[in-house]
Amino acid sequence: MKFPDYKDNFIVPSVLSADFSCLKKEIKKVEKYSGWIQLDVMDGHFVDNLSFGPHVAKCLKNVTELPLDVHLMVEEPVKFVKPFIDSGAGVITSHFESNDFLKAIKMVKDAGIKAGIAIKPRTPAKKILKYIPLVDLILVMTVEPGFGGQSFMYDMLDKIKEIRDYLTINKLNKYLQVDGGINENTLIYALNSGANSFVMGSALFSKNNPSFIKRIAKSIK
Ligand code: DX5
Repeated sequence: MKFPDYKDNFIVPSVLSADFSCLKKEIKKVEKYSGWIQLDVMDGHFVDNLSFGPHVAKCLKNVTELPLDVHLMVEEPVKFVKPFIDSGAGVITSHFESNDFLKAIKMVKDAGIKAGIAIKPRTPAKKILKYIPLVDLILVMTVEPGFGGQSFMYDMLDKIKEIRDYLTINKLNKYLQVDGGINENTLIYALNSGANSFVMGSALFSKNNPSFIKRIAKSIK
């Protein structure tokens, strides 16, 4: 599995907003300009929505060479780590606000997979700074998790900058990912605040012009 460098700026298509009747075609349209593909896993408890499980990840492994980034929006991430490792995930992110998130992160790292820690909009950066050395990726949610197509929360920009400053001061190489309401305009704000991994769902899959992602990916190189 080939991963972007920690310093690279890259787009992460979120299949949550893709047309599930032709997922292979949807991924083939975007993979050339993407760092990896994200699967938003929802359990109907941690968030009021249900999405998909390990079987979808297993099927997508036959569709793309790109790493699969599994964003666990579930109450019990420990329950889902092994099934997604077995389905070939390359990155597994657990929410700070979920049960036993540290145990889930450790399980992911022990399996040699990249681990992420995610925080909801209301969780301050200071709550997770001490865990950053344990992970490869920090995900700052720029919407309340649960649904695609929401509006970007500009008041998250200070949090993104705070975490970027922490990484710089401590010379830590990590992905700083944003997720929620990312389009060609909001992406620039997040980029200028220090994010380098941009999860994009509805802004990407709602468009029927393949050149859109090519233009966006080029603009952040
Ligand atoms: C929310 C999801 C969405 C999705 C991206 O729980 O995590 O943020 O990935 O959706 P858009 O790009 O449509 O906001």
